[in-house]
Amino acid sequence: MSTSLNARKKESYKIFDEIASTYDGLNKFLSLGIDIYWRNKLLKNLPSKTNMKAVDLACGTGDVAVVLAKSKLIDSIEGLDLSKEMINVGLKKIKDKNLTDKVSLNLGDATCLPHNDGTIDLVTISFGIRNFSNPDLSLREINRVLTPGGRILITELTIPQNFLIRMVYFFYFRFVLPTIGNIVSGHRDAYTYLNKTVEDFPCGEKFESKIINAGFINTSFTPLTFGIATLYIGEKAP
Ligand SMILES: C[S@@+](CC[C@H](N)C(=O)[O-])C[C@H]1O[C@@H](n2cnc3c(N)ncnc32)[C@H](O)[C@@H]1O
Repeated sequence: MSTSLNARKKESYKIFDEIASTYDGLNKFLSLGIDIYWRNKLLKNLPSKTNMKAVDLACGTGDVAVVLAKSKLIDSIEGLDLSKEMINVGLKKIKDKNLTDKVSLNLGDATCLPHNDGTIDLVTISFGIRNFSNPDLSLREINRVLTPGGRILITELTIPQNFLIRMVYFFYFRFVLPTIGNIVSGHRDAYTYLNKTVEDFPCGEKFESKIINAGFINTSFTPLTFGIATLYIGEKAP
């Protein structure tokens, strides 16, 4: 990874602070609403356990927490993010949807979790881990806090394998998305940065091996929508 990109990742929450007010609307528009389908996929991959305690890392404006709250298997969801402004947008959403009994959103760093060992049943991260300055450390932290048999579900943007789809993808992600995103968010290069983080981040087997190296078992990855996103799954050894 280039040193300048890694330096920006250390402070990526500042970018998200600046684009928080337009983040949700732009997400829906730029992904043509597919992001909703990707987040809902998490519900189909929950562990078959009841009374679960879930943590959503890089929770942003709380969209994953809202989706997880639909599950009767989950008792509580705590979202953690480094961006105060993203959390503020999320807190309003949680209140408007009457989910404050089940969902809390707090400031927190995904590479240094405040939870005790073996206390969380499910950890999710959607479109967040490629922004972490140290994803390996975060994966080890997640492994530490999960209960034996607990599960990690990570959704991340990835590069499609099919040549033709990849060409269309590059045109959209390198030119269309950054232009519209930067203009509408009013940020000089937030969406150019976001695209760079996707192209720079390991995907498929390469990222799965990071999950394995952090101590997870029963790992798998499933490309979603031609591989524009990928869902990774891992479990903590019993
Ligand atoms: C692209 S947003 C994803 C938000 C949300 N998960 C979603 O699905 O829309 C990435 C988020 O990662 C957060 N982030 C970056 N580094 C972080 C870290 N070390 N710990 C916690 N959150 C972090 C940013 O502040 C930002 O809100």
